[in-house]
Amino acid sequence: MELTTQPLAENFGLEVLDVNLADIDDATFEAVRALWQKEPLILFRRQNPTNEEFIEFCRRFGTLDIVIGQNEPDEHYPELLFISNLYLQDGSEIGGLGSGELVWHTDQIYRDKPASGSIFYGVEMPSGIAATSFCNMSLAYKTLPQSMKDRLEGKRAICRYSTRFPLASYALENSSNAPRARFNEEYFKKVEERTPEVVHDMVLEDVKTGEKTIYVSPNHTSEIEGLDEEAGRDLIDAVLDHALQDTFIYSHNWRNGDVLFWDNARLLHRRDAFDPGQPRYAKRTTIFLDPDFFLVPEPELPLPDHLPNRD
Ligand SMILES: [Fe+2]
Repeated sequence: MELTTQPLAENFGLEVLDVNLADIDDATFEAVRALWQKEPLILFRRQNPTNEEFIEFCRRFGTLDIVIGQNEPDEHYPELLFISNLYLQDGSEIGGLGSGELVWHTDQIYRDKPASGSIFYGVEMPSGIAATSFCNMSLAYKTLPQSMKDRLEGKRAICRYSTRFPLASYALENSSNAPRARFNEEYFKKVEERTPEVVHDMVLEDVKTGEKTIYVSPNHTSEIEGLDEEAGRDLIDAVLDHALQDTFIYSHNWRNGDVLFWDNARLLHRRDAFDPGQPRYAKRTTIFLDPDFFLVPEPELPLPDHLPNRD
């Protein structure tokens, strides 16, 4: 079955027209999945699923993660991550991530088996502000000069959730903007215990398609195996200088009812800071994508000796 689509940007991203995600038959679902396999960023507008419908649909792509971040999982819908700058009357947060800038990163690279699929449902989205931008790391890889591909060949990077010492100059220069900068030593200790460092191949290959992508996160990659700090920084800076060009970036201006799918194995993303007085409310699922259909970032080689094996 053929879906009707239109491009979001010159180089990547597709909007799918005329599909209601809350009520989708098997043939349409398979067409949507096939499209997401090919295209790392797909958008559906004017959606209005209930929590149950949203969860049920997302679950068809793989097991849903229960994300433990700044906020405890919701009692009724633990699979939904609520993202909001709103507060309840008792002063507690409705969701996480506030209104500050979120610098370029890819979700969950700090886990050895990341849940790399994200489906984000924007319920109440302020117009013209708080855009989310995406950088296509597959396109970036494809256009790298051969000398850079050679430098990345076989390289692995150590990633940590709490990046007090990110390797990339970009992250060092921008880390004061990260919302987690407001947390204290005790918070970092707790987070480090929960999310010990992991290692990932810097270039991932989808064996089904042969497509390659660069897998680093400016905000989480803290070291490159076999390189000292300076050489590691040179390499990741060169990669990001190439990747973070306008031609590989799409900025999404949200509308209420947008449902945006993105694949963290193939995209970086960031969010603009916005006026905290503008209400913003969204729900997201985070999916262990089915490896029969998607490129799933799992290190193939054994972990280095100094890292615990957590299988
Ligand atoms: Fe994110």
